[in-house]
Amino acid sequence: MIPLEIAERTTAPDGRPQSEQPAWRRDFPIDVPQEQYVARRDFTKFMMLTSVAFGVGQLFIGVQNWLRGRRGPLPAQAIAKVAEVPVGGARSFHYPDASEPCLLLRPDEQTFLAFRQKCTHLGCAVVPDDGHKQLRCPCHNGCFDAATGRPLTGPARRPLTRIALENRDGVLYAVGVEETPA
Ligand code: FES
Repeated sequence: MIPLEIAERTTAPDGRPQSEQPAWRRDFPIDVPQEQYVARRDFTKFMMLTSVAFGVGQLFIGVQNWLRGRRGPLPAQAIAKVAEVPVGGARSFHYPDASEPCLLLRPDEQTFLAFRQKCTHLGCAVVPDDGHKQLRCPCHNGCFDAATGRPLTGPARRPLTRIALENRDGVLYAVGVEETPA
């Protein structure tokens, strides 16, 4: 129920009372006092719809995670020959599919590391920095330790996702995705 003083101040162009106006005009009133008035029922409806949308979103994420967990072990995928990656170098690849860009790093002769390239803050692509000791996210200046994937500075709180590697006769294979504990 709209208070009388607000209803009186609100006059539609056709002069008819508010109760006879079409729904679109009642939803988008033309007068400032009317516009600022939010009925308790409308507010409750808005809160209910927001809560339902939030719940559906959470459910969707939960189902996706559940399905991902049931996919079983990921297939091994050859990503580079050892000889092709120079010491101190990096190389990009996709794993387990084309939608997941990753980075392969070779900090020293014997060590190979791989991480998902997606920053754990808002998903920008991280790039090697500081002689490949760090992985930097250009979006909000986030920085990760290139040896462990842990966040060093910036807004990200979770480590980069690590890709498990195997060296099979001089060929590097991605063999799985390791969710690093926070
Ligand atoms: S998206 Fe990487 S720090 Fe924000």
